Amino acid sequence: MTTRMIGTTNHGFAQYAQEEIRRKAPGVKFQVLEPGEVFLIHTEVPLEEMQRSLQEDEPIFLRHVQPVTQELSITRTRADLDMLINFVQDLTGVFTPGERVAVQVRKAPGVKCEYTPYGVKEAIDPILAQTHEVEPVIQKPDRIISIYLTAELLYWGISKPEENLSDWSGGAVRYKQEEGQISRAVFKLLEAEERFGLDLASFERALDIGAAPGGWSSLLLKRGLQVTAVDPGEMHADLLSNPNLKHLKNNAGDVRFEEDAFDLLVCDMSWSPKQMSKLVFDLLDALQVGGTAIITVKLMHGKAFQAIKETVAAFGGQLELLKAKQLFHNRDELTLYLLKQ
Ligand SMILES: C[S@@+](CC[C@H](N)C(=O)[O-])C[C@H]1O[C@@H](n2cnc3c(N)ncnc32)[C@H](O)[C@@H]1O
Repeated sequence: MTTRMIGTTNHGFAQYAQEEIRRKAPGVKFQVLEPGEVFLIHTEVPLEEMQRSLQEDEPIFLRHVQPVTQELSITRTRADLDMLINFVQDLTGVFTPGERVAVQVRKAPGVKCEYTPYGVKEAIDPILAQTHEVEPVIQKPDRIISIYLTAELLYWGISKPEENLSDWSGGAVRYKQEEGQISRAVFKLLEAEERFGLDLASFERALDIGAAPGGWSSLLLKRGLQVTAVDPGEMHADLLSNPNLKHLKNNAGDVRFEEDAFDLLVCDMSWSPKQMSKLVFDLLDALQVGGTAIITVKLMHGKAFQAIKETVAAFGGQLELLKAKQLFHNRDELTLYLLKQ
């Protein structure tokens, strides 16, 4: 039986994810659902095998994947909701009473329905609770029902959050803008923390290269770290009075630190990967062995896989790559998670 899944990437990066999937499933076929970002995957590799492989060796550019086990015809009228309610009511042997189930619904752009994606969730949740005795939730689900609506079809699938590579609908990680937030860039570090299973509070001394205006620094300070921020630009005024922050108003090429001065190095310089990796390499003695590095890599000319290879090679074997991932909050860039050797 052909396995079907829906894959989602950041806009414009579908072809990279497809290249990564093709390596796992030769002969795989793709069908565009949203140009450049959402696509159907058709492969002869069994679903469990695909899910295992995607988790064990996670693609860099595939942000989210969901299984498709049913395709239901829809008319985009409210009658679809009745059809779906009947469908869910009739499911047997699928749910375990008491489990937490999240219904995540997405709709292809431009498709006009008489109901909203949230309306679909609202229609199904009571049936899940009453008929199947599960607990409908939004966060921390045991399992996720993923629904994707196109003009004519509703794609349905159930999976565990880790099988989707993200427990956010479509991998779209939404953080609340906080009062006094210094920059949207902070979302990148928050997402890296979640994605890479890091506990930033477990570090003590961080070097933040390319730190201004200070979103990343502010998060590190909030997590209780001592932060040395390097940037010729100005840090946000709210940060300057923080006794745990030291701002060196310099180019990263003009600063030097004592050996092993830091246990965390972060770098979010929007610059060419070549220049960035040279600057970071020259400061690597300051990161203690076993220390962590989180580095944003700008994707310049479309050669993404090459850029990762060259960047890691430029660290001269001093940083081991644990994971490379294009985060939802990365635009034309991706994020590396590395360990000092
Ligand atoms: C995308 S911003 C960083 C945003 C920051 N992570 C935040 O959360 O607010 C990139 C920063 O890198 C800095 N930068 C670029 N080249 C640099 C260099 N050679 N040395 C130090 N900083 C540099 C720029 O001045 C700019 O402030």
